[in-house]
Amino acid sequence: MRPKIICHMIGSVDGRLLSDRWTPLPEGAEPNTILKVYDEAAQRMSAQGWIVGRKTMADMVSGTARSYGVANTSRSHSTYIGNRRERAIAVTVDPAGKLHYGTDHVGSDHLVTILSEQVSDEYLAELRDDGVSYLFAGADGQDLYTAMTTLGSQFDVQTVLLEGGGTINGAFLKADLIDEISLLVYPGIDGLAGVPSIFEYHGTSADELPAAGRTLLLLSVETLAAGVVWMRYAVDRRPAE
Ligand SMILES: NC(=O)c1ccc[n+]([C@@H]2O[C@H](COP(=O)([O-])OP(=O)(O)OC[C@H]3O[C@@H](n4cnc5c(N)ncnc54)[C@H](OP(=O)(O)O)[C@@H]3O)[C@@H](O)[C@H]2O)c1
Repeated sequence: MRPKIICHMIGSVDGRLLSDRWTPLPEGAEPNTILKVYDEAAQRMSAQGWIVGRKTMADMVSGTARSYGVANTSRSHSTYIGNRRERAIAVTVDPAGKLHYGTDHVGSDHLVTILSEQVSDEYLAELRDDGVSYLFAGADGQDLYTAMTTLGSQFDVQTVLLEGGGTINGAFLKADLIDEISLLVYPGIDGLAGVPSIFEYHGTSADELPAAGRTLLLLSVETLAAGVVWMRYAVDRRPAE
């Protein structure tokens, strides 16, 4: 069974994601307010791990880059579980296997990567040497439902936070894999058209509706430090009457 997936994000009042562009907090607010409110809210959801897109994880890890050709595509597509111990998991969706870690953790969390079946034996060996766990999302790495089912059954994850960026959130939205939205609204503005927002699904036509068939039901609203507002919504899939 797949875990419950909660999309946990902080955005400006105009829903944009790049925090270094936001107007400043009112005078007297703690300088690390964004990280603090984000992490404290995450803790309160009792998840066993979190998921990010390849680009967001690239900002957090600094392994030595080595490149492998695609000629030697691996024929083994078995899940590998490193020495996770009791740690929460930090999951990247990296179909092409672009990231190099050199470690088995980020912060105190154990690294897990979701791959396509096109990655090479050398890359898989590198991940095992680093102690990074891996699993597969089908031939092209787009089968997120299968990947989430593996995460639930083989990594014993009941609840996981989907933490961006907008591109990977959009892919999960289109695949109808989001059960709850946890949105922190930062009291500030970006204002520029085209800056990434919470969901950035790149559809095939202008009339595509990646969230079709779903309704949001408000679960709770809470005011946190510095005027950040935390809203939680359940994603309801019941057909409209
Ligand atoms: N405010 C917040 O709460 C928050 C949270 C997280 C991130 N961010 C910001 O968001 C930015 C990064 O976001 P992003 O949207 O550019 O990147 P992202 O969502 O972190 O990563 C996108 C990448 O994920 C990979 N991917 C895997 N499966 C995919 C699928 N089914 N569809 C599409 N892509 C898939 C692709 O990698 P390949 O290109 O290798 O195929 C794609 O380029 C950073 O600036 C970060 O600081 C903000």
